[in-house]
Amino acid sequence: MGTNYQYIPCALQEELRRIASAIVAPGKGILAADESPGSMEKRFSPYNLPNTEENRRQYRQLMFTTENLQDYISGVILHNETLYQKADNGKTFGDLLRHRGIIVGIKVDKGIVPLPGTLDEGTTEGLDDLYCRCGKYKRDGCDFAKWRCVLKIGKHTPSYQAIMENTNILARYASICQSQGIVPIVEPEVLVDGDHDIIRAQKVTETVLAAQYKALNDHHVFLEGTLLKPNMILPGQSSCRKNSPEEVAYVTVQSFLRAVPAAVPGIVFLSGGQSEEEATVHLNAINTINLKRPWELSFSYGRALQASAMAAWAGKKENIPLGQAELKKRAKASSLARSGKYVAGSIPPFKAEQSLFVADHKY
Ligand code: 13P
Repeated sequence: MGTNYQYIPCALQEELRRIASAIVAPGKGILAADESPGSMEKRFSPYNLPNTEENRRQYRQLMFTTENLQDYISGVILHNETLYQKADNGKTFGDLLRHRGIIVGIKVDKGIVPLPGTLDEGTTEGLDDLYCRCGKYKRDGCDFAKWRCVLKIGKHTPSYQAIMENTNILARYASICQSQGIVPIVEPEVLVDGDHDIIRAQKVTETVLAAQYKALNDHHVFLEGTLLKPNMILPGQSSCRKNSPEEVAYVTVQSFLRAVPAAVPGIVFLSGGQSEEEATVHLNAINTINLKRPWELSFSYGRALQASAMAAWAGKKENIPLGQAELKKRAKASSLARSGKYVAGSIPPFKAEQSLFVADHKY
């Protein structure tokens, strides 16, 4: 095995390190607003809102012009369409966010496709032109990127093939991003679908993370300039056994201690179908559990930051201030939880606890 490898240049290391630590600055986390145009259909349909480019623009404008959002949100992940859409004042959303001091991220994967030879497992496409796209995104003001892979828990899954393929493609993506000055968010999501218990979820997540960090090392990825975006470790969505926030926090942090190097500056959890309150309470428990925590433990939520805002807005112009107030509440609650200061039930969601679970979730 060849081991003659040069580290990336010091200036690039410094730039990546600076961006990654700014994203996980104290009290701050990420708003994942990178749903593809196709997946916005599911978000809009409960409100009978046509999934048009203009409605997507109006919704993103509501979020990105929320007053004081930057107090809680360090970075926003955008879809290509959103990066270049313009707010009413003529500024692109990318520029608007940057001028507010929010770091702009971009989803660069092109979605999940079947992995032949497996039991309905998948991999994620998008490597072919990634080098050029990353160069362009960097010039257009993006400083970080996201690529999501999913692993499914079943009797015979995830397979060795799916684990190897997905962790390797994430490592290739990460090395390409870094060569262009973009911090990669590495997202090997173990889906919550299934009736397994928390211990099975723990074992699978540990196995996937161990493979992930081996692959990142094989591809010479500079860990200090990366962020990990994992699932919290939970029992399966249809399991009859529920675990307390302390149990969830314990197995989650324990597994990460076993599998994630301390060189990684931050772990930014996805919400993965948890309700807004669940995702907040679990993140708070993760930040207060009596275990070592060598990384920042923050959030990169999509559904758990947006569900109340969307429900309050429901596509009506007169509801924009209400939608913005709801987004600010969830952002503040997540910020408190990320600092271990959230009191359960203190910032209720717009609607009584609604499940945000979507089977076999696509982004
Ligand atoms: P959820 O928080 O809705 O799971 O989504 C986060 C995300 O960005 C998934 O890739």
